[in-house]
Amino acid sequence: MPPSITTRQRVVVVAVELPGADMGVQDDLAEALELTRAAGGEVVDTLTCRRSQIDPALFIGRGKAAELAERVGATCAELVIFNQPLSPSQERNLERLLQCPVVDRIGLILDIFARRARSHEGKLQVELAQLRHLSTRLVRGWTHLERQKGGIGLRGPGESQLETDRRLLRVRLRQLEARLGRAVGQRINSRRQRTRSETPTVALVGYTNSGKSTLFNALTSAEVFAADLLFATLDSTLRRLELPQCEPLVLVDTVGFVRNLPHELVAAFRSTLEEVRSASLLLHVVDSARDDQRALMVQQVNGVLEEIGAGDIPQIEVMNKIDLTDGVPRRSAGEAGGPPRVWLSARGGEGIDLLRDAVGEQFAEGVSHQRWHLPRCDGRLRAHVFRVAKVRHEHFDPDGGWQVEFDVRRRELGQLEPLLAAAATDARPAAESG
Ligand code: GTP
Repeated sequence: MPPSITTRQRVVVVAVELPGADMGVQDDLAEALELTRAAGGEVVDTLTCRRSQIDPALFIGRGKAAELAERVGATCAELVIFNQPLSPSQERNLERLLQCPVVDRIGLILDIFARRARSHEGKLQVELAQLRHLSTRLVRGWTHLERQKGGIGLRGPGESQLETDRRLLRVRLRQLEARLGRAVGQRINSRRQRTRSETPTVALVGYTNSGKSTLFNALTSAEVFAADLLFATLDSTLRRLELPQCEPLVLVDTVGFVRNLPHELVAAFRSTLEEVRSASLLLHVVDSARDDQRALMVQQVNGVLEEIGAGDIPQIEVMNKIDLTDGVPRRSAGEAGGPPRVWLSARGGEGIDLLRDAVGEQFAEGVSHQRWHLPRCDGRLRAHVFRVAKVRHEHFDPDGGWQVEFDVRRRELGQLEPLLAAAATDARPAAESG
């Protein structure tokens, strides 16, 4: 896969506001700057403009394009990034005019994905999406860019495919599709195993940079790459989540959602997001400090969830980063019939216990709390108890007796209880509750 760029590319970022946009041009630019930073670029200049309609040849008007060319020259920029999807011909025309490579929003997001992909499946998905994106752009005159080796939007398969013809590209696409099919099959199998053992899944979802990986670490104490970069997580990451009230759960960290995620990317990452579809509960992480954008971000995430068929899975809204707002950790009812909320700081840890309680309550139903005192400890029975139940406490008496306290699903208890009772005729539950 792609070599990452080692030197920071000098980038001019262009944000364009079109009629009906859900963000002002300044917010659009702020997002584009974050995306560019996540791709490793160094922003040397920016250009914003509003247009009532798209120019078919250059996307922006001729005058603005000329201004852009001047800025590119003055700053010795090596790349221009548009935070909008461009048609292949617009990209080509702009490259000719500006005499430097141009990358659109889709190419930029794909590039970030390429840097972040970790699993075999994730890498295949990215390469496939990049090649599909590239296949529409193979017609352009690449000769003027031949000196460019890699860099944002040109990294990865693009670099080696520039010289290849469409036939080779199609062969490569077919190979990748086949490999991806096998990788998806393996993942589905492992999910089936989880379903068979009926381990419920809790998925962290949320707008990119909302703090999902940080929360994932805080909940599971696992080390996952969390950086102040967009899309720090590409592949679903799984960890066991132990809560006192209920059986063990599987916690899934997922790729961050992005505003107006280009449709072809939703399709490309569908299998990654399928982890979300099979979840029993979604923890929707929200950056509560982004007061202005919060509602819009929540709406965007829910929109994508609907799109992938996860719209009706129960949610808890995790209002993260309260340390930036002087908020206090608390639980609150959802707004206008929305999901319940937990306010916390994933980084500082304040309120994490409230979230653990809230998640535990969702799964506690059907769990029985048991205390047994057996006259002797049977190794196989003990192993069985540890397998099906969550043992809270055990104690061995000096005379060989075994005291154990555990939580178990009532369904499991139906099988376990007779075994415990048979282990010793005088074994009887000391107490039961729950
Ligand atoms: P993607 O992988 O891009 O989707 O991001 P993410 O949602 O997993 O976010 P991540 O956990 O990587 O956090 C993004 C940034 O927010 C990092 O710099 C974190 O340190 C920071 N962050 C996360 N939680 C908190 C918090 O509670 N308070 C503050 N102040 N910063 C936080």
